Amino acid sequence: MKQLSFIGTGKMASAIAKGICQNSVLDCDKIIGTSPGASKDIFHNLTQIPVSSDNSDAMNSHMVILGFKPQVAEQICRSLRPMVKEQHFVSICAGITLDDLQEWLGTDKVTRTMPNTPLCVSKGAVAYCSSAGVNQEETALLHKYFECSGILARVDEGDMNTITALSGSGPAYIFEMVDALAQSAKNNGLADDVALQFSIQTFLGAAQMLSNKLGSPEELRNAVTSPNGTTYAALENFKHNNLREVLSQGFQAAKDRGDELSRGIK
Ligand SMILES: NC(=O)c1ccc[n+]([C@@H]2O[C@H](COP(=O)([O-])OP(=O)(O)OC[C@H]3O[C@@H](n4cnc5c(N)ncnc54)[C@H](OP(=O)(O)O)[C@@H]3O)[C@@H](O)[C@H]2O)c1
Repeated sequence: MKQLSFIGTGKMASAIAKGICQNSVLDCDKIIGTSPGASKDIFHNLTQIPVSSDNSDAMNSHMVILGFKPQVAEQICRSLRPMVKEQHFVSICAGITLDDLQEWLGTDKVTRTMPNTPLCVSKGAVAYCSSAGVNQEETALLHKYFECSGILARVDEGDMNTITALSGSGPAYIFEMVDALAQSAKNNGLADDVALQFSIQTFLGAAQMLSNKLGSPEELRNAVTSPNGTTYAALENFKHNNLREVLSQGFQAAKDRGDELSRGIK
């Protein structure tokens, strides 16, 4: 009998599994991953966790992490239903509600999470909500498996799509900004590798200052903004071009898409 299964062994499942194995939370031979295609081989190479192409091999664990895309969630969950016993199902599918999971799987031992890929470097931010059948012991295990790779917080289910737009999709916003700033430096003649390295280090350093509570975002921004200086010039330009509005609209698009997925719009 395994302790933990992954049905779907793609990028997000790999990030979660890597954190659990690297931090020695669970031996990899107590875990199994299943998927129909080639992703399970990448998953195995990354984690040494045994894999199979038969989802039923994943159904004898205490906890089953559902790591496939929301668009195929109903079909896969319904196919698992005849094998549902006392497992605790933990979905990472964006937008799929607890009600849907309970109906498709035929159990009230379900948890809905929203993880993010920085889990793979132990800087994850994971939110979750659970249905009534999930007991304290199962919740404690959930904390153990996710907190080894970052922060975990219980939220109201109504906040899950907002969390998705913030921390679930958020790493992609940061990658986009790192790339855009590096590109601007390259346009001014800086060598490619120096531009990227300095852009990355700037995000890392700024995030660390915030994390160390050296000030609020506003205080720290003001501290590096001299009147009529270079930072001031950039920030005035951002204001003129409504950077905050652009970010807010992107965020809202992600939130709205999560709401659509929750309503079953594929
Ligand atoms: N990526 C993120 O940053 C992120 C963040 C938060 C939440 N999520 C959520 O995480 C989930 C997975 O996303 P991802 O980015 O990891 O996608 P992905 O890399 O494309 O992985 C999808 C996985 O689903 C598997 N799969 C497809 N059909 C299956 C079936 N019938 N039975 C079992 N497994 C099946 C695929 O297997 P094969 O490829 O081997 O066929 C693959 O391993 C999504 O629901 C997404 O909403 C992702």
